[in-house]
Amino acid sequence: MSNRIIIGSSKALKGEITPPGDKSISHRSLMLGSLATGTTLVRDFLISDDTLTTANAMRALGASIEINGTQVLVKGNGLHGLKEPDQIIDCGNSGTTTRLLIGLLSPQQFTTTLTGDKYLQARPMKRVVSPLAQMGAKINGNEEGNKLPLTIIGSNLKGISYELPVASAQVKSAILIAGLYAEGETEVIEPEPSRDHTERMLAYLGVPIKKKGHSIKINKVSKINPGEIIVPSDISSAAFFIVAALITPGSEVLIKNVGINPLRTGIIDILKNMGGDIEIINERDVNGEPIGDILTRSSNLHATEISGDVIPKAIDELPLVAVAASFAEGETLIKDAKELRVKETDRIHAMATELGKLGAEVEEFEDGMSIIGTQALTGATCSSWGDHRIAMSIAIAALRAKGETEIIDADCVSVSYPGFFEVIDELRQ
Ligand code: S3P
Repeated sequence: MSNRIIIGSSKALKGEITPPGDKSISHRSLMLGSLATGTTLVRDFLISDDTLTTANAMRALGASIEINGTQVLVKGNGLHGLKEPDQIIDCGNSGTTTRLLIGLLSPQQFTTTLTGDKYLQARPMKRVVSPLAQMGAKINGNEEGNKLPLTIIGSNLKGISYELPVASAQVKSAILIAGLYAEGETEVIEPEPSRDHTERMLAYLGVPIKKKGHSIKINKVSKINPGEIIVPSDISSAAFFIVAALITPGSEVLIKNVGINPLRTGIIDILKNMGGDIEIINERDVNGEPIGDILTRSSNLHATEISGDVIPKAIDELPLVAVAASFAEGETLIKDAKELRVKETDRIHAMATELGKLGAEVEEFEDGMSIIGTQALTGATCSSWGDHRIAMSIAIAALRAKGETEIIDADCVSVSYPGFFEVIDELRQ
């Protein structure tokens, strides 16, 4: 795919799509499947740069992973069946690969070094390294273990009770995975609930997990069962087309098989509050995760205020909320979202800058932004900042901008949604 893409404004979007598999669940299926005793079959797995990074990392650690289309066979040799890799493991752009692996590698009997691309090297790792060090992990790296490359020297761990300073499913998951090996009980207490795919998958694979209020407890186990895991479509990918349909007059789009875990549906709550016509139909349950089909029709949106516990439930979709807000009546306010500054890029600054180029009225704050809906954007040359979700958010804004928008470095969409631009073309009338 070309590194630059040009998107013209669009008439109504119509049709039915099934976005690719959930990224968070795909990563976890490979890691937990590799630790299981036996063969795990994963269906509708997300084939993307980030998840293939996890596949290669687990292979380097001795797991057998066979990918055939979107079906994956993971042959796990048990909790102690991994081996020391021959080389440094490159986690590419993937924060989830890195942070979950740091937890998984801390209790192994060998040493591993992890690195990543320039964006990942800039991201904070202390948030996982600190609690794991309290459990007895030995992790060395740049900036006192805050930045990649990091070397993890496998050690015996003991359980702790850890109160997370910020809601983070990656940090929570790293601690829980390390807790599978730690003496005694490991407890994580969250400030607000974050996505619970690790807890759900562990429970599905036979690991006892105790959940009470904001506390999650796990004990050392001798084995994880293998299983068949069907990955739902990623709501974070579906969200681009929900917003596209809402803001493009005359649109009606049905998005099928989407994971609607209540800790991921913040974007739907927010968009409904803005007046979005969104219906969830055909709700069902697949291996411990709720799924449904999402029917979206174009709507007249109005501004909203977003803060507090909806933030972790919509964290990856907040750039897209800024796009929807640009086409809503009134001033939208996003607060308590400082975490956006340490994602694949600083997503507050990136969205304020890029939407600004299209003529949107965005003001940046330390922990969020305000957007005055002008409903009249004009195409411009924008950058993705090397961040897949910025590239896709700008592409959706471009559908309602006058003229053409050029996005530079657009190929980063392959991190989570290869084929994204082709789906736009399919839905255009
Ligand atoms: C993820 C957790 C979130 C999210 C990321 C995926 C996961 O990150 O932003 O895209 O799969 O656990 P944080 O844990 O940093 O909030």
